[in-house]
Amino acid sequence: MNLNHKTIFITGGASGIGRECVAAYLCAGARVGVLDRDENALNELKTQFGGDELLTLQGDVRQKEDIKTAIEQTVTAFGSLHVIHNNAGIASPSKPLDQTSDDEWDSLFEINLKSVYYTTKYGLEYLKQTRGNILNTSSMVGEIGQENHAAYVAAKGGMNALTKAMALDYAPFGIRVNAVCPAGVWTPMLRKWAGEQPNANEIEQYLDDIHPLGDCPEGDVIADVAVFLVSDAARFVTGCIMPVSGGAELGYRR
Ligand SMILES: NC(=O)c1ccc[n+]([C@@H]2O[C@H](COP(=O)([O-])OP(=O)(O)OC[C@H]3O[C@@H](n4cnc5c(N)ncnc54)[C@H](O)[C@@H]3O)[C@@H](O)[C@H]2O)c1
Repeated sequence: MNLNHKTIFITGGASGIGRECVAAYLCAGARVGVLDRDENALNELKTQFGGDELLTLQGDVRQKEDIKTAIEQTVTAFGSLHVIHNNAGIASPSKPLDQTSDDEWDSLFEINLKSVYYTTKYGLEYLKQTRGNILNTSSMVGEIGQENHAAYVAAKGGMNALTKAMALDYAPFGIRVNAVCPAGVWTPMLRKWAGEQPNANEIEQYLDDIHPLGDCPEGDVIADVAVFLVSDAARFVTGCIMPVSGGAELGYRR
């Protein structure tokens, strides 16, 4: 699963799952452009991984100009684009639909789903040149649902459906489109989310218990699968909604 000579553009790559993916992509030989809104986390990333193979770009995936500029800077720096990894996302609010405000709905959809529209608009022509691929960080809940997370579940369900639609639309160009679906992964987002839950003191145990294969993992389990899906080893895989969930979705629940 060699990523030598591949250029990867990833959103939300400064922390959590995205950061683990950046580390794994660099380790596999890729050149990586990272768009994230968190300047401090980007600086830490640069300090830790440094080198000419990493380009950090501060911006907000809600702003189409930020995405356009970041993709163009990545191509200018590295000369090509082989992979777009749509990873940026937020988990809040933890609410059913009727309690979700206009702003909460719009913000979640802009970050978690509309950003895919912009990265595709501004990146597709480059991917056509390389017969590249797109990877979306989605979620198991987009397939199985989750109580109290209506907007998040809707956006991730939309992302899974969109992954299949894009896989069909772009297959004629040799462009693959896949999604990776975690259940729980310990990241800054999950820690923030855990603190917001009504049963915050029980949540760590709950997160361990939902994964039949064992404890709630760290982001490396997602990164390893991401490296496979964006590599040529997965050259005949497209439209795949790949669970990386330790079996969390399996079996009867109650
Ligand atoms: N952690 C989990 O348990 C889990 C489970 C399923 C799916 N996911 C998905 O994985 C992805 C990454 O989540 P994570 O847990 O690593 O979160 P995280 O908060 O640790 O990292 C997300 C990164 O995205 C960046 N980001 C957020 N909004 C942005 C914006 N508007 N513009 C640019 N950058 C922005 C943040 O600055 C951060 O660096 C998300 O799409 C999330 O929905 C996470």
